[in-house]
Amino acid sequence: MSSKEGRRVYVSRPIPEPGLELLRASCDMEVKPTDEMVPREELLEKVKGRDALLCLLTETIDEEVMDAGSDLKIIANYAVGYNNIDVDAATERGIWVSNTPGVLTDTTADMAWALMFAIGRRIVEADKFLRAGKFHGWSATMLLGGDISGKTLGLIGVGRIGNAVARRSVGFNMRVLYADVNPNEDLEKDIGAKHVDMDTLLKESDFVSVHVPLMPETTHLINARTLELMKPTAYLINTSRGPVVDEAALVEALRNGVIGGAGLDVFENEPEVEPGLADLDNVVITPHTASGSVDTRGKMATMAAENVLAVLDGKTPPNAVNRV
Ligand code: DGY
Repeated sequence: MSSKEGRRVYVSRPIPEPGLELLRASCDMEVKPTDEMVPREELLEKVKGRDALLCLLTETIDEEVMDAGSDLKIIANYAVGYNNIDVDAATERGIWVSNTPGVLTDTTADMAWALMFAIGRRIVEADKFLRAGKFHGWSATMLLGGDISGKTLGLIGVGRIGNAVARRSVGFNMRVLYADVNPNEDLEKDIGAKHVDMDTLLKESDFVSVHVPLMPETTHLINARTLELMKPTAYLINTSRGPVVDEAALVEALRNGVIGGAGLDVFENEPEVEPGLADLDNVVITPHTASGSVDTRGKMATMAAENVLAVLDGKTPPNAVNRV
C-alpha cells in the first residue's frame, strides 16, 4: 500500500504555495490548474474517490457534491465564512467541515476602514477626476467628502472582524454603536462602545459597517426599509457577504440620495454586480478582496491544509465547524 493511500485530495482552485506544499508532502493531490470557478460537472467528477476536498467560497458544496464524493472525510473551506457548504448534510454523512478563522481578521478589518476612507473622502472619484485632466487648480468646493474623525461608527455584528473594526476607531475619536445578539462587555469597557438595537444604530450612525455571517436571518438585513432609516449623509460598508444587502434596493437608495454612499467588497450574485451599481459615483466597489494580502492568503492556505491533514491522520481538524 502506497504511503499516500487514503490521502487523495482535490483542491478546487489554485491556493498559495504554503498550503500546497504541506499537502504535497504526504498526499496524492490534484489542484485545478487554472484560477476560475470549477464547472459544476467537473467538480462532481473530481470529488469521486477523494478523501478530502479543499474548496473556495465560490463552490457550492451540497448533497449532490457529497454524494458524488462518497469517500470524502473533510471539506476544508478556504474562507472563514462557510455559507457555501451544507454543513448539516456533511454532518449527516460523517464529513468534517472546517474554515479559516482568525488569520484574516485584521486584514479584513483594515479593508473595511480602507473602504470607509475611500468612499467618505471620495478617493476613487478624485483619482479618476485627476487622471481625466479635470484638475485645473485648487478649489474651495471641489470633491468635498464626509469626515471620519469624530463621527459615529455603527457596527452590525461584533464577532472577530466587527470587533477589530471597532477597536481601530479609537485613533479617530469616534462614537461607536453596535448591534449584535450578544452584548460585548469588553468592547464597552475598552472603547466605550454602546449596544443598541438595529434601528437606533441605522438612524444615528455616519458609517454603518456590516460584519454578520450569511444566514437566513441576515439575508437582506439591509433593505429598502432599513436604508430609509439611515442618514442621507451616511455610508454603508459591507465586507461580510453580499446577500446581507438587498443590492437592488441599495442601488435605488444610492441613486436617490437616501444614503450618502457605499463601500462594498461583496455582492449579492458574485461575480455579477447589480445593474447600475458600477455607474454610480457614490460607491466604491472591490472584487471580494478584503482578506487579500499576501501574508493572510498564505496563512489561510496553511490553515486549510492543516485541517485536511489532521483528518487524514485520524484527528479532529483544528478549525472544525461541525462535529462528526
Ligand atoms: C472569507 O474568508 O469568508 C472571506 O470572504 C474571504 O476571505
